[in-house]
Amino acid sequence: MFAILFLTACSDDTTITNSTIEVEDAQNTIADYLNLDISNLPDYENQDYPVHYNNQVLNNDNTPANNPVTNEGATLGRVLFFDKNLSINNTVSCASCHQQNLAFTDQVRFSVGFNGVDVTGAHSMRLLNAKFYEGINFFWDKRAATLEEQTTQPIQNEVEMGFDAANGGMEALIEKLNELPYYAPLFEMAFGDDAITEQRMQFAMAQYIRCMVSVDSEFDTAYAQNYNPAAPDNGINADFPQFTAQENLGKSLFLDPPPQGGVGCASCHQAPTFALNDNSLSNGLDAGETTIFKSPSLKNVATSAHFMHDGRFDSLEEVVEHYNSGIQAGPALDNRLRMPGTNNPIRLNLTDDEKAALVAFMNTLTDTNITTDSKFNDPFITN
Ligand code: HEC
Ligand code: HEC
Repeated sequence: MFAILFLTACSDDTTITNSTIEVEDAQNTIADYLNLDISNLPDYENQDYPVHYNNQVLNNDNTPANNPVTNEGATLGRVLFFDKNLSINNTVSCASCHQQNLAFTDQVRFSVGFNGVDVTGAHSMRLLNAKFYEGINFFWDKRAATLEEQTTQPIQNEVEMGFDAANGGMEALIEKLNELPYYAPLFEMAFGDDAITEQRMQFAMAQYIRCMVSVDSEFDTAYAQNYNPAAPDNGINADFPQFTAQENLGKSLFLDPPPQGGVGCASCHQAPTFALNDNSLSNGLDAGETTIFKSPSLKNVATSAHFMHDGRFDSLEEVVEHYNSGIQAGPALDNRLRMPGTNNPIRLNLTDDEKAALVAFMNTLTDTNITTDSKFNDPFITN
């Protein structure tokens, strides 16, 4: 079994024999640290998409051609994601600020970094459906060119994980990882040899994050049942019998553009992934704003405790009130949020029932399968 696993990684017979012995040792080594059966890895490669994740949706996949998901790569990514050794003093992992039960964000407005005192300058982002952000760039202000590039930045951040230039940067971290016995076999499985490089770490973590796809919310279950490929709108606009009247009202308001009586949230937060449309500009949080921020997918938005890049809102009611009455003018403000034909911010004048309906609809986007799926939990035996 182990020999078969490693055949693809080996080029000649001698290596195969050596590797077979090594791999049996490797499984034992891994078993000392990780709840992982390397001969029977969880399935990350074969994503089972429901009907409403049709080709149009799958076209927004930002997976680059040189980094397709493999079970071995995503498994390595999962181990890295949960490993506190990625922080300078072994206190913080990616998962400290991106917790599975919270759709991979943090409870607090600003996350506490490795020194236990300093906090991040922005609110942690949910990671669900990150794969379907066709804009490619990552972080609220889109400063990382790709997901791959993003993944090693928190490690080098002086607040988050502390391997900044003064502390030796990625080179120091890689030296440290080389001392941890479980990484050699995991890198070999994923990439064919045991060399640890920044790019391989990026590839593995990006693969793992791209597997965090949410398809099992109440919204998804209802849409899959009402999905009609023959209809121009695929059946998304008609009331779902599975929804309450309030959820259906919220759905129409969210999906329909203003000329049809809606408020057009979905022109930016695109159904059914609820990842942001690449063409979205600013949503007018601050007067005169020039930065164009992105939003994470709104899947599981209702399980978050703070909203927007600086976590300024504490409830979805406050978010809806922002869009209803609080949008500020500025050079980056998106036209969809201006009064038609003017530069002024839109005022929606929603009724209390309509505001509550929008919140009720966003509550249907909560998927509890992905937040409990064992493929995404902590693989370390003691952590
Ligand atoms: C101390 C808390 C903390 C740690 C540790 C942390 N993050 Fe984050 N993460 C954040 C915050 C805060 C943001 C938003 C930062 C910003 O946009 O400026 C973020 C943003 C992200 C994003 C961008 C999502 C998007 O849609 O653009 C990804 C991906 C991500 N983190 C992955 C990781 C990975 C991988 C690790 C571990 C190597 C990690 N994070 C470690 C707090 C943290
Ligand atoms: C022009 C595009 C656009 C439209 C239209 C739009 N949004 Fe947003 N939305 C954004 C952007 C951009 C952000 C992130 C802003 C930031 O944090 O700086 C965001 C953030 C959010 C968030 C917070 C996400 C989080 O994880 O903190 C929620 C919730 C939200 N929007 C709901 C809505 C609702 C409800 C509507 C309709 C009433 C709507 N949006 C309309 C662009 C848009």
